[in-house]
Amino acid sequence: MEMAKLFKNSSFCLAFVFALMLGSLGTYAEAKAFFVFGDSLVDNGNNNYLVTTARADAPPYGIDYPSHRPTGRFSNGLNIPDIISEQMGWEPTLPYLSPELNGQKLLVGANFASAGVGVLNDTGIQFVNIIRIYEQLNLFQQYQERVSEMIGAQETKRLVQGALVLITLGGNDFVNNYYLVPYSVRSRQYSIQNYVPFVVSEYKKVLQRLYKLGARRVIVTGTGPLGCVPAELALHSTNGECVPEFQYAASLFNPQLVQMLNQLNREAGGHVFIAANTNQMHMDFISNPQQFGFTTSKEACCGQGRYNGLGLCTPMSNLCPNRDTHVFWDPFHPSERANRMIVQQILTGSNTYMHPMNLSTIMALDSRA
Ligand SMILES: *[C@@H]1O[C@H](CO)[C@@H](O)[C@H](O)[C@H]1NC(C)=O
Ligand SMILES: *[C@@H]1O[C@H](CO)[C@@H](O)[C@H](O)[C@H]1NC(C)=O
Repeated sequence: MEMAKLFKNSSFCLAFVFALMLGSLGTYAEAKAFFVFGDSLVDNGNNNYLVTTARADAPPYGIDYPSHRPTGRFSNGLNIPDIISEQMGWEPTLPYLSPELNGQKLLVGANFASAGVGVLNDTGIQFVNIIRIYEQLNLFQQYQERVSEMIGAQETKRLVQGALVLITLGGNDFVNNYYLVPYSVRSRQYSIQNYVPFVVSEYKKVLQRLYKLGARRVIVTGTGPLGCVPAELALHSTNGECVPEFQYAASLFNPQLVQMLNQLNREAGGHVFIAANTNQMHMDFISNPQQFGFTTSKEACCGQGRYNGLGLCTPMSNLCPNRDTHVFWDPFHPSERANRMIVQQILTGSNTYMHPMNLSTIMALDSRA
C-alpha cells in the first residue's frame, strides 16, 4: 500500500495534511494523486487563463455543471477526468494555471491539459496561445519542484510514482492539422499511411518523457471515431454516414498506438501504459444509440446547421432541452452522460475496451503493492 507507507514514513504534519485533505482516514489507502494531460476532451479550464480562441468559457457550456456556469470544460457538465475523480472518491484536480492551485491542494494532483493541442507541435497553431504537450510536461516538472519544497524530493517522487495519469491526444493531429484545410502542409508532406506512424512515433517520445518524469500508471486514450462527429457529418457526410477518410485515419492510428504502448511496456518491464479504446466505446453509442438511452448520436445538442455541426457552440446556437439524450454535446465533444459511460468502461471494461487491464484492476493491484 503505497499511501500507507507514505503515511508511516512521513512527518506528523504531512499525515495531518492528508487527513484533512481526504476528510477521513477510511479512504486514505486508496487515494492517489491524479495528473491529466492532453486536449479539449480533458482540459478543465487551463485555456481560460490564456489568450486563445480555443475556449469554452461562455454559456451554454457548463449548463449542467453543479454551478450551471461555463468553466472552460468542453462539456455541458463534467468531463472524463472529473468523473474519474468522482468515481474514485478523490477531490477533483484543478487546472494547473488556476491561482487556487497551491499549498495542500497540489497534493491531489493537477490538470495540465489545453484545448487545441496535439502530439505534434504544429497542431493547433491556429489557436495561437495554447499549452503544447512539451510545455505541459515542463509544467509537470515545475509542479514537482513546487511540491518538493513542501514535502521533500523523496515524498514527491513517491506521490508521482503512485499517481494515476490520464493522457488524451491525437484527434487534433488529424482534425486541426492534417485535415484542417485541403492541401495542408502535413498532407502535402505525408500520405495518411505515413503520417500516422509519424504521429505515433512522436507520441512515443512524449510518453517516454512522461515516464522519465515519474509517471508509472498512465491511461492513454485513442482517438474517437473522427469521421462520426457532428462537425465532420455536417461538412462531409451525405446521408449521415460516418466520413470514410476520417474513419480510415482513426482505424490506422488506434491499433498502431496500442502496439507502441505494448512496446513501451516491454521496455519498462511492467504495465505502465494502459490503452483505453475510446474509439470502440464511441462506436457502441453510434451503432446503437437507443441501447444506451440516447435518441441521437449524429446531432450535437449545441450548434447550428446540419447535425448542429457547423461552427461553434455559442449563446446563439440551437440548444437541445435534454442533454442526456445526445451522445454529442457540441460538434466535437461528448455530453456528460456519454462521458459517464466512457468512464464506466475505463473502470470496469473488458479487454476489448481496456488493454491490458481496466482501472479497477489497476487499483486492486496497486493497493496490494
Ligand atoms: C516539439 O517541441 C519540443 C520542445 O519544444 C521539441 O523537443 C521536439 O523535438 C519538437 N518536436 C518536433 C517533431 O519538432
Ligand atoms: C476488469 O478487468 C478484469 C481483467 O480483465 C476483468 O476480469 C473484470 O471483469 C473487469 N471488470 C472489473 C469490474 O474488474
